[in-house]
Amino acid sequence: MTGTTRSAATTYVLVGLGVVAIVVAALHLGLPDPDVSIRNHHIQHAFFVLGGALLGVALARGRARPAAGAGHGANAWLLPAIAAPLAIMFAMWPSTYEYIEERPLLHVAEHGVFIVLAAITTFAGWRFSRGTGWLLGGMATAMAWAAAFGFGVTPPLVTLPASTLAVASPTATSPAGASPAGAQPVDGATVYQNCVPCHQAQGTGLPGAFPPLAGHLPQLLAAPGGREYVEHVLLYGLQGSIAVAGRTYDGVMPAWGHLGDDELAAVLDYVAGSWGNALPAGQQPVTAAEFAAARVKQLTPQEVHALRQGLDLP
Ligand code: HEC
Repeated sequence: MTGTTRSAATTYVLVGLGVVAIVVAALHLGLPDPDVSIRNHHIQHAFFVLGGALLGVALARGRARPAAGAGHGANAWLLPAIAAPLAIMFAMWPSTYEYIEERPLLHVAEHGVFIVLAAITTFAGWRFSRGTGWLLGGMATAMAWAAAFGFGVTPPLVTLPASTLAVASPTATSPAGASPAGAQPVDGATVYQNCVPCHQAQGTGLPGAFPPLAGHLPQLLAAPGGREYVEHVLLYGLQGSIAVAGRTYDGVMPAWGHLGDDELAAVLDYVAGSWGNALPAGQQPVTAAEFAAARVKQLTPQEVHALRQGLDLP
């Protein structure tokens, strides 16, 4: 094999690897389902970036080698080589998630942009000097990978310490379900603080991780049997794959049965009347008595999920 054919073979191998990385990302072969959590989604992004980076190097190799000691012309390549990975980083900035998640077409386009920007990074880097191409490509991929586990993306599945519950629960020391006579009326907004880490202060949830309650709870309440279902979710938790607004969630909702019936009723009524939500026509606010009745069932989170499967939801 001559030096030239060996080098051409390497280029084809790079193209092959790049295509494989992009196919793996696009079909998420062997990758965790990107729709389940933001973390999984960033892992998918990392493969898009890796694929683009490899293609960029292959493309640069297919052209004339940069002269040793990089002449004047080569310096100009440094600018795109540095600007492109910066652009990747800004596109992955956490504050863009919600906007992009809500626009599926933009989201697919974003994946294409990652590939192109990564290719520009390594192509331009390689034109400056080979080492720069590999270095910047590796950095862009590492950054995308780090985004899955680093810069403030996935709120951990929070198990709230007992002290947090005590704030929201004036009855925390009395047996579950009971309230001391003459207790202050419970404030639903205060109890809702327990839900904020996951469902967020405005009930928007986090796409792919925690379902929204704003715009969604009334749908659940309006379905026949839906009101009882929601009471069961609060009392016993929920586990199993569900679809909300076209998105799949497969997480675990913790049980809140240790809160009093009056607190559970208060938080549900708070959510049912906040952020544009309203009780379905003809329904009265949920009462503590309803929770007391639902408590006798003793369901598992999986059984609650089975109840949901039986609901007629939009
Ligand atoms: C630790 C995170 C977390 C907390 C805290 C939490 N939830 Fe959830 N909630 C979830 C997850 C995850 C799901 C979806 C579970 C699944 O995929 O099966 C869910 C589902 C729900 C559902 C059912 C949605 C549906 O479409 O069936 C309701 C209602 C709900 N939560 C209300 C609440 C309320 C009210 C609170 C506060 C008392 C609360 N959640 C606290 C994570 C949480």
